[in-house]
Amino acid sequence: MHTAVTLAVVISTCFLQNSLCERQRENKEAEGLKPGSATEMYGYKAISGDVFVMQCAKPFSTGLCGRLYNKSAGPEKSNWMRSDEETSSDRNQFIDDVAVKRCGNALCFLNVSAEHSGTYTCMTGGAMIRFSLEVLEKGSLGCGIKEKSGKTLVLGQGGQIHCPGVNCGNDSVVRGQNVSWYKNATPICAIKSRDIRVVDQQILHLGNVYENDSEDYFCDYTYSQGNGIHWTVRKHVKVSVISRDTDVPPRMIYPHSKETEEVELDQPHTLECRVQFGFQKTFDPIVEWRVSYHSNPEGTMEPMKMGQLQVNSRTIQEITLVRTAHISVVKLIHLDSTFTCLANNSVGNSNATVRLKRKPKASLTLVIACPLVSLLFLASLCITIHIYWLEITILYRVYRPFRETLTGKEFDAFVSYVPCPPSSEEVGGVHVTKEPLEVLLPRILEEKWGYRLCLLERDLLPGGAYAADVVWAIHSSRLLVCLMSPDYMSSTCLFELETGIRAMQQDACLRIILIWTNTGPVPATRTSLGTHLTAAKPSTNTTLSVPLSPGPPADTMPPVVRRAIRVLPALYWNPQDQGRMVTSSNSGSRFWRSLRKTLPMTPRGVSSGC
Ligand SMILES: *[C@@H]1O[C@H](CO)[C@@H](O)[C@H](O)[C@H]1NC(C)=O
Ligand SMILES: *[C@@H]1O[C@H](CO)[C@@H](O)[C@H](O)[C@H]1NC(C)=O
Ligand SMILES: *[C@@H]1O[C@H](CO)[C@@H](O)[C@H](O)[C@H]1NC(C)=O
Ligand SMILES: *[C@@H]1O[C@H](CO)[C@@H](O)[C@H](O)[C@H]1NC(C)=O
Ligand SMILES: *[C@@H]1O[C@H](CO)[C@@H](O)[C@H](O)[C@H]1NC(C)=O
Ligand SMILES: *[C@@H]1O[C@H](CO)[C@@H](O)[C@H](O)[C@H]1NC(C)=O
Ligand SMILES: *[C@@H]1O[C@H](CO)[C@@H](O)[C@H](O)[C@H]1NC(C)=O
Repeated sequence: MHTAVTLAVVISTCFLQNSLCERQRENKEAEGLKPGSATEMYGYKAISGDVFVMQCAKPFSTGLCGRLYNKSAGPEKSNWMRSDEETSSDRNQFIDDVAVKRCGNALCFLNVSAEHSGTYTCMTGGAMIRFSLEVLEKGSLGCGIKEKSGKTLVLGQGGQIHCPGVNCGNDSVVRGQNVSWYKNATPICAIKSRDIRVVDQQILHLGNVYENDSEDYFCDYTYSQGNGIHWTVRKHVKVSVISRDTDVPPRMIYPHSKETEEVELDQPHTLECRVQFGFQKTFDPIVEWRVSYHSNPEGTMEPMKMGQLQVNSRTIQEITLVRTAHISVVKLIHLDSTFTCLANNSVGNSNATVRLKRKPKASLTLVIACPLVSLLFLASLCITIHIYWLEITILYRVYRPFRETLTGKEFDAFVSYVPCPPSSEEVGGVHVTKEPLEVLLPRILEEKWGYRLCLLERDLLPGGAYAADVVWAIHSSRLLVCLMSPDYMSSTCLFELETGIRAMQQDACLRIILIWTNTGPVPATRTSLGTHLTAAKPSTNTTLSVPLSPGPPADTMPPVVRRAIRVLPALYWNPQDQGRMVTSSNSGSRFWRSLRKTLPMTPRGVSSGC
């Protein structure tokens, strides 16, 4: 009894479970494979090892000519998940960007395999679409290993691409129907070209193959299993375009036919041979360097030490190869040799030669000497400018158009001199008293010509500091007149000239004129160099010029003064000029005319005191 009850329970449980399982399975099948059912589920079949693309949209029915997928759609347009049947949990870590990645609104499988079989869900615009992917082993559609997924076409010729497996199976029901073709994502029906058309649904016919026909092609067809369930089978064909085999020998690019290269003795040298080959399906190129020494009576060519054959550039129609040969040390024998680059393919061969010649040495010395010479020239120019900077600035001031100004200038001229006693002389039996120039000059300039002079002893209040007074007086004058008597050269008055030179470098409104006089006795007490100084050239031709001045004692003179007096404008005073002044009726002697020209154009006029 007890056992009977237990048995009954076990049997009923088993029956219940069985029927439940059965119904579940039925539900699943109906759900999963009936396209267009309430849950919108679509089925794809792919072949293992293929490239497979699944877009987040209904598979397009025949005749609509839609794209394989939308390349420009962003990742937010499709949210892919993988539904794991066993755990009922959604996984989306299956996108690894290597084998499975997003492309537009689609999932792209670069090498689809059995492990990718399963259910995928994608959300787009609020709608959820489910896909069932079944990855079949190669040959399982009935064509065996024949189903090739690669095709090679020849550039410029016609070609055909077959949809693999579409004709497999001997049952008309199993055979594929309604084939759609895609070139990459573009449906063939959208390509308006006479060069591409579909023949008999399953063959893509290309009238003329271009380089851009090298692409991934897809063909879809509907696969009916006989039980009313339709799958979309998606096949991939990788098309490569190659060129027609060349019918010409290789072309030498460098050396072209006969070249000469410059080398240096005892240095290494590398020869390079560049050859262009036309495309060949079975490509067995040869590029070699040979050398023939002219001293060798037989003139045979010997192989050289060469580098690896390298690809320089490649297009679909041609390939450029490079091979180098190395001469470790260039000797005289190499200058007397011919180097030959030989190249051949199965069509024929070509060759070109290189000879070596010595690089001219002169160019090297020129390369070094030229910059060196210009550098030295520049350096000496800089040094000259540096040394003669004072002279250059003074000459610039002297020859630059002079700006007359009255602002800040109280005097027309500052006269710098060392007083000397008047002397008398017998001229033609008449006793003539000669006035020294420092007395004569103020008298004429102030009384006759109306200039306002500054004389240190007369115009400055006694008791002031000498140096400060001089600086002030020079800065307040438009012209500094220095009476260069022998006494002056050895006196402290040179300080006034030095101050003037420094002031002139700053002040564009100050000028300096030197008047060389050699009159008057030389007081032996003041300088022992007096006799030397009397040699100072008295000039009957008084000129305003930049002359060579008499050489003053070098050691007692400040260097600035010594250099400046060589370039400062100067006049030469001759006692005979004393009576020949410029008057309204008489143009006067040259000395006075020159002096008049040097003085400022407009006198300030005489007024009292400094
Ligand atoms: C592709 O995606 C872009 C961006 O989301 C959209 O603008 C375009 O209309 C889509 N094209 C097709 C044919 O669906
Ligand atoms: C695809 O993957 C299989 C194994 O997963 C491998 O044997 C095959 O070489 C791969 N094919 C390509 C084209 O990568
Ligand atoms: C045709 O199909 C039958 C069974 O459906 C199979 O036995 C036979 O081998 C097939 N023939 C070819 C050539 O595939
Ligand atoms: C193939 O297309 C025709 C019309 O173009 C249609 O009537 C037929 O049902 C399609 N076959 C399949 C299996 O989809
Ligand atoms: C491919 O190249 C040919 C010739 O260069 C051109 O006429 C044709 O439009 C190109 N096709 C595509 C799809 O770009
Ligand atoms: C190309 O060169 C190799 C080696 O120098 C030679 O064996 C072969 O016959 C040559 N082929 C042609 C077509 O000249
Ligand atoms: C080099 O090419 C010329 C013709 O271009 C041929 O006469 C000559 O024999 C070739 N030299 C070698 C060494 O192959």
